[in-house]
Amino acid sequence: MKIRILETSEGVARLVAGRLWQDLEGGARRLGLATGRTMVEIYREFVALARDRYRDWDWSTIETFNLDEYVGLGPKDKESFHSFMESHLFSQVPLPMRQTYLPDGLTKDLDQECERYETLVRQKGLDVQLLGLGTNGHIGFNEPGTLFTARTHVVTLSQATLEQNQHDFAHRKPPSQALTMGIETILSAKRIILVATGVSKAEALYETLVGPVGPQCPASALRLHRDVSVYLDRGLWKHVGLEGQEDDMGPEISVETPSP
Ligand code: GLP
Repeated sequence: MKIRILETSEGVARLVAGRLWQDLEGGARRLGLATGRTMVEIYREFVALARDRYRDWDWSTIETFNLDEYVGLGPKDKESFHSFMESHLFSQVPLPMRQTYLPDGLTKDLDQECERYETLVRQKGLDVQLLGLGTNGHIGFNEPGTLFTARTHVVTLSQATLEQNQHDFAHRKPPSQALTMGIETILSAKRIILVATGVSKAEALYETLVGPVGPQCPASALRLHRDVSVYLDRGLWKHVGLEGQEDDMGPEISVETPSP
């Protein structure tokens, strides 16, 4: 696991967006995408690069697969992850909509939809998976207690997650259930990029990096994957409580602070 600490969250967003483009240039075609406030800046930087440096990019073979969607919400609901992706990324780049995939929150048969999405993701194969981090250590919507063998499934959201995501729902409560890729689905990606910014993620990040590997912290599963890069800002790193111990975090973890 490689950890890179940037001075600011803007720096994190720029570096991660650049890294995604490098992956695309290196042949990545199937991108696993995430939603959440952390991703807003990343997509903004990604789109800026698309319009500037990659204007002639060939999008015909790029496909995207989102981690999750709320049960009961679809593309027409402005709080859905469909809408989030549409406004922050899909409408901003010439990526054909038929090459973008999310679980269908409006499905009549949740189990069948989970099966369909899991099969789709596995058959296509994820080259890179982008992840944010929940304040309780969730990745996608895999809440604490989720087994690492979980595939795409329906989840009842925890109180912590409902509170964290309330800010996206001005006039109503978030749905209590969601469809999410499982931890095993996420770990099937060839490369994983975890992004965490802001001090509210400090405890979850500590558990992710040095806490016990187990279902109580879903993101700790990432320590079982061979190609994970973690990007975070210095303010968060100070709160994690591992500053000064970077060289003692175990042979599988390397911490890098790029020069400004
Ligand atoms: C939601 C998403 C997660 C995301 C998390 C973090 O719960 N399902 O995939 O990682 O939010 O959100 P934020 O970036 O807003 O802190």
